[in-house]
Amino acid sequence: IRQRSFYFDEVNSTNAFMLSHAQELKSGDLCIAEYQSAGRGRRGRTWVSPYANHLYFSLFWRFPQGMAQAMGLSLVVGCSLATVLTNMGVTGLGLKWPNDLYLDGRKLAGILVEMTGQADSECQLVIGIGINMSMTAEQGDKIDQPWSDLSDLAQSLDKTELMLNLHTQLCLDLQQFEQAGLGTFINRWQESDLFAGREVVLSMGNNQIAGICRGIDEQGAVLLETPEGIKGFVGGEISLRGA
Ligand code: BTN
Repeated sequence: IRQRSFYFDEVNSTNAFMLSHAQELKSGDLCIAEYQSAGRGRRGRTWVSPYANHLYFSLFWRFPQGMAQAMGLSLVVGCSLATVLTNMGVTGLGLKWPNDLYLDGRKLAGILVEMTGQADSECQLVIGIGINMSMTAEQGDKIDQPWSDLSDLAQSLDKTELMLNLHTQLCLDLQQFEQAGLGTFINRWQESDLFAGREVVLSMGNNQIAGICRGIDEQGAVLLETPEGIKGFVGGEISLRGA
């Protein structure tokens, strides 16, 4: 059975649309919009989604064995984005654990994974991706963190081609992830890891752990080399030490 794509000129949120239609959807189905009136970011934030300038889409995927099977998924998605953009000529990319893609040290794309279904039987995932294509100064002013876009490559980068390449790569990578787990992505992550080998601080609530970033493990934990040895962490926000 073929995959389906839903294309909207305007929608509240491509993630919200996919979540509310989860029953009817198959792995690989896609929802794309030119404009989102209520684009969602992580941690309850808004994803500023002005008309036609950028890429907003969601991919649907089923995991028959439940949530445990989907752990580390956002890292796989980050690898897919980095691979496609690199193949299309973008340089200066960096993956920031666990969910962001940076260009020249500023955020280029965000990933928001949401799920429905039971934790212990099949779960359904909606993988939402927003990529800044060409930001106007006025739009950029509304964003509360340093951002970058792909406007330097506007001449050579076609949005439709990018979308198709992303869909192909994501489907390939998610199949590989489903069959072989996160282990097969550790090297790819390492190649694009924004903080690899650098001194970072991981903030978890009021706790701060300092260490040297040593990539990820097979569970998707970020590895920090501390005076007590290398330790894995599954939560928190990572930043450069002193930044
Ligand atoms: C983040 O906060 O970094 C995640 C941003 C994710 C934005 C994308 S745009 C398409 C999809 N639909 C949404 O409402 N959000 C995601």
